[in-house]
Formats: sequence, structure tokens, C-alpha cells
Amino acid sequence: MGERGLHCVALACSPRKDGNTALLAREALRGAASAGSTTHLIYLQDHHYAPCMACDGCFETGRCVIEDDAGPIYQHLLAADRVILAAPIFSMGICAQAKMFIDRAQQFWATRYLLYRPVIADAARRPERRGIFISTAGTRMPDVFAGALQVARYFFKILEVRLVGAYCYPGVDERGAILKHPWALGEVYRAGQELGSERPAVPVS
Ligand SMILES: Cc1cc2nc3c(=O)[nH]c(=O)nc-3n(C[C@H](O)[C@H](O)[C@H](O)COP(=O)(O)O)c2cc1C
Repeated sequence: MGERGLHCVALACSPRKDGNTALLAREALRGAASAGSTTHLIYLQDHHYAPCMACDGCFETGRCVIEDDAGPIYQHLLAADRVILAAPIFSMGICAQAKMFIDRAQQFWATRYLLYRPVIADAARRPERRGIFISTAGTRMPDVFAGALQVARYFFKILEVRLVGAYCYPGVDERGAILKHPWALGEVYRAGQELGSERPAVPVS
């Protein structure tokens, strides 16, 4: 019986692969790796996926009928012990790229609430799944992150991941502007370290 470390997957949702949320996601993953986690970064921008068609095709099986890149990405997220969702604010909400992907989690809503099955079947053999949300917004408008946070909470809940932190930075607009805020990069690095530092509760062979 061997022990495996935690596996941490980050989903970077911005179309800017070198943008603010992607930089923060990479920093959080660096922190997780420094604590012994294996890490994997997925840029949604590299993938092709359709929006949910509301066809109800998942209602009887818990599986989406659309065959595209969303399926394999969700497999990565289901296999992870730690999940980082990084997405900017567009038009006062989570960016469309993230929202379109999250709508495809309707299959897990069907699994839980129509089929009464767990999304994570082998939960007893795994540590509690945990995750954080990372976002940036160009303005400092009150409640600029409120809508995105609602969506992020839904995403983590439906994937059976406990959301343990939200790192949202207002007033960060142009590409790479977050580099002028080293304290923010340090904050997500430490959050990643904390996420990646716990060993699984049950050793996995
Ligand atoms: C289409 C679009 C819509 C945006 N809408 C908002 C907005 O409603 N409020 C806001 O504060 N910033 C808005 N922004 C600015 C982004 O939130 C900001 O530039 C952010 O740091 C981008 O993160 P990224 O580099 O990870 O993509 C918008 C940017 C774009 C491209």
C-alpha cells in the first residue's frame, strides 16, 4: 500500500492565457507544487466545447450527450483532490468561457438531484476535495464579484469540492497588471501551498 500526494488541477478560464487570472492560477499551482502536490493547469482557451443544449439527455444517465473537450476536462476535475477555478469578471459576471463550461456540469446536477447518486463514487477512499476561486476585475465597483462568486459556489458544490477560499482582486485591468501587486501573487501562492499541503486521510494503493 503506497501513499500518493494530493493532485491539484487549475482551470484558467480567461481567453488571455497570460492574463491576470492565469498568472494568479499559475502562482497558486506553484504554491501547491512546493507543498508536494502534483499539478495540472488547463486553459479553457485551448479547448473546444459547446454550450449546454438543455436537451435533458443527461437526465437518465448522468452523462452529457455532447462529445467534445468538456468531457475530458471534467474527468480531470473529478480526479483531482484540489481544484482551482480562475476566471475574470466580464460584464459584471463570470466570463462567458467559464459560464459556458460550468453549464455543462448539468450532468452532475442530474446525477445528484435526479438520480440520487454521488458525483464522486469513491469518496471514502479519498481526502475531502477542496478548492479555491480566483478572480480579477478592472473596476472597484461594489459587488463586482458577487455574481461570479454565486456561480463559483455552484460549480464547487456540484463537483463535490469544498470551497475554502475566494481570492478576488478589483482594480486590476490590463494584461499582466496583477504583476504590480506582488502581495496578491504572494497571497495566492500561500493559498496554493495550504491547499496542496495536506496528505490524503486514507492511503491509496
Ligand atoms: C468583455 C470584457 C468585459 C469586462 N467587464 C468588466 C466589468 O463588468 N467590470 C469590471 O470591473 N471589469 C470588467 N472587465 C475587465 C476585466 O475584468 C479585467 O481586465 C481582468 O483583470 C481580466 O482578467 P484576465 O487578464 O485574467 O482576463 C471586462 C473585460 C472584458 C474583456
